[in-house]
Parts: sequence; structure tokens; C-alpha cells
Amino acid sequence: MKVPFNKPPICGGEIENIRTAISSGPLQGGGKFMGVCESLISGFCAGRPSLLTNSCTASLEMAAMLCDIKPGDEIIVPTYTFVSTVSAFVLRGAKPVFCDIRADTLNIDETKIEELITPKTRAIVPVHYAGVACEMDTIMDIAKRHNLLVVEDAAQGFFAFYKDKPLGSIGDLGSLSFHGTKNVVCGEGGALIVNMETAPNRNVSATDRANFIREKGTNRIHFLKGKIDKYTWVDLGSSYIPSELSAAFLAAQLPHTEELTRKRVEAWNFYKEALAPLEKKGLIKTGCIPDSCRTNGHIFYIITESEKRTKELADFLAKREISSNSHYVPLHTCPMAKQLGCPDVKLPVAEFSAKAMLRLPIHSYISKDELEYVCESVEAGLK
Ligand SMILES: Cc1ncc(COP(=O)(O)O)c(C=O)c1O
Repeated sequence: MKVPFNKPPICGGEIENIRTAISSGPLQGGGKFMGVCESLISGFCAGRPSLLTNSCTASLEMAAMLCDIKPGDEIIVPTYTFVSTVSAFVLRGAKPVFCDIRADTLNIDETKIEELITPKTRAIVPVHYAGVACEMDTIMDIAKRHNLLVVEDAAQGFFAFYKDKPLGSIGDLGSLSFHGTKNVVCGEGGALIVNMETAPNRNVSATDRANFIREKGTNRIHFLKGKIDKYTWVDLGSSYIPSELSAAFLAAQLPHTEELTRKRVEAWNFYKEALAPLEKKGLIKTGCIPDSCRTNGHIFYIITESEKRTKELADFLAKREISSNSHYVPLHTCPMAKQLGCPDVKLPVAEFSAKAMLRLPIHSYISKDELEYVCESVEAGLK
């Protein structure tokens, strides 16, 4: 049996929506489907204003501008994350300060954040790995006491919760991804969730400024709303607005968010239960979901005792046509971190976890037979 790692969801209304978008006319950003997506996303994110973007990377770049990050500012980030979490801030001249992660969730270790704060620190960027929330109460408390901004990288966190709060809606800003590998998709896409009133260091609302930044630094939003008869250059910005075709595709998926997530969580629970005996024997560790968290089942991973054992297991699974994947290379060990002059630190939990972890196939359409076959194969591969 061939088991693919991922199958992007197709909900049925995508082609119809795209046909409607084409026959309605303008295909650039700012159309009817973008509005539909934004009101649905806001609904999923505690009613916060949301701006549809080209990607989570775009949302993070917008967030860095909106936070008014300047050269020399520092941001605290988990080392175990995707490049975009950090590069968005590095583009503004910030220096990343890498924090180790927790062994149980692979999220930023909130107990290690405070010791990394300096007078230059401006923001903390927690990443909700695998759709499991970081310890947000602690992080928000640290931020409040030290007057720092919090930008949630919720690329994997759409429709996952921390103490019943949707991920992406807790910090000052949140960024979501609708990339083809995520739970709800449009190929390439994302959103910025705005949870601050006034833009830092500006006399303008944060949502207005986010709109300027998304539209190449212009106030086109005011033009579209009929407030001005000609739009002009007012701010920093770039081209972060998605085409109406992407929005049309996403608008067909968002109404199915609950169902797509439920199926993914069922698969996650199946793995957790079926692999429990191996975990009891100490052969593997699987991801933990703290009581404060409700996951969206984005990733199911196992961690073996060593890099070698994980590699052998991945090869064994590949021979059985099961696709599995490792994940990030800790960013503090990457060439770019060296180029930026980041100190040569040891972050042992991230360094070990990155080498010894393996993600198993998971998506909304994975069958019970496939899940059973993967679990049997993991067991056989570890014998
Ligand atoms: C934690 C994290 N942040 C950001 C991104 C970037 O998302 P996008 O591909 O939508 O730009 C990813 C991509 O998977 C990610 O895993």
C-alpha cells in the first residue's frame, strides 16, 4: 500500500468559485471572494480583523513592518522553526535571538525566554508547532512586564486553541498559512490577524497601517472604500495581496474548516493510541497536547532514541512505500545565522529533536487501513 505524506483537501466548490470570479471580472486582490475569506477567517479568530495575504511569510513580513522593527532590534524566536519566522524580521534589520524548545511539544521553552531579553528586545515570536499552542499566558505575561510585542506564528495553528482562544488571535499580531500542505489550503496563501488598536510609533490604526503595507505602501484601501478619489504612497509596503482566484479557491474551503480539522484530529488520535504501547516501552516519544491546548492535528511526529534509529526507520517505511519526513534544521546552526553574527550557542533540545524526529503521514483523507499499516510498519521498523 502506498501512503502519501499529505493530500491537499478539495472540498467541491473550488472550481465553481473560480468560474464565478472569472465571470465577475477583476482578478486582482480586493474583490468579493477576498472579503468572504476575511470575514470567515475573522469569525474563526475571535472576531479580530484579518487581512488575506499571499502567504504566512508575507503576513510575517507585514507584521515586522507593523511592529516598526528597526536595524539592531532583537526578536526572540524558537530556533526550531521555518526560515520565514525569522527572515521576515531580519529583512527589517533585526537580530534574531534563538531560544531552545520544550521536549514535550517542540514549542519555544517559555521558561528560557526571560533570560534572553536585553534592552534591544522588541518582540517575541512564538511558533505553535504542529498545531499545538505555546504556553501563551506565560509568554503574554513576560511581554507585558517587559513592554514587548508578541507576533504569533500560527502558520500551522489555524483552528487550534489555547484555553479556548483561537491561535493567531492572542498576541498583538498573528499570522496564518493556507499553503498547500496546511489543513485548509489555497496553494499559496495566508492571513494577518490584527489584535492591536494603534500601530506602534504611528498615529494610525494598526488595521489601516496593515492595509497600507499590504498594498505596496499605498492607501488604496481608502480609495476602494470611496474615502478618497486618488490613492497615493503613504507608508512602507510591498505586494502582499492575493489574487481573487486564490481567494475564490480558499472561500470554498473555509466553510469546511471544522470537518477537515475533525478528520485530521481523528487521525492524530488514532496514531496516539495505536503507538502508545511503543511509547510505553520507551522506543518512541510522541507529541504531547497540554491540557490548555486543543490541537488541529496538523502534524503527528515520533521521536526515537537517536538520529541513526530515526533514519533507519524512515528508510524502512520508504521501502514499504510510506512517505515520512523530518522537519526543520534548527536555525541557530544554519549558515545565515553565522553570517548574521548570531552567537555559537548550544540549544540541546532542538538539536536532538530535529535529528531524531520523524513526521508520519497525516491529512483529512487518510484511511483507517492506511493508519493501521503505518503503525504496524513503525512497530516492525523498530524491532
Ligand atoms: C512555522 C512556519 N512559519 C511560516 C511558514 C511559512 O508559511 P507560508 O508557506 O504560507 O509562507 C511555515 C511553512 O510551513 C511554517 O511552518
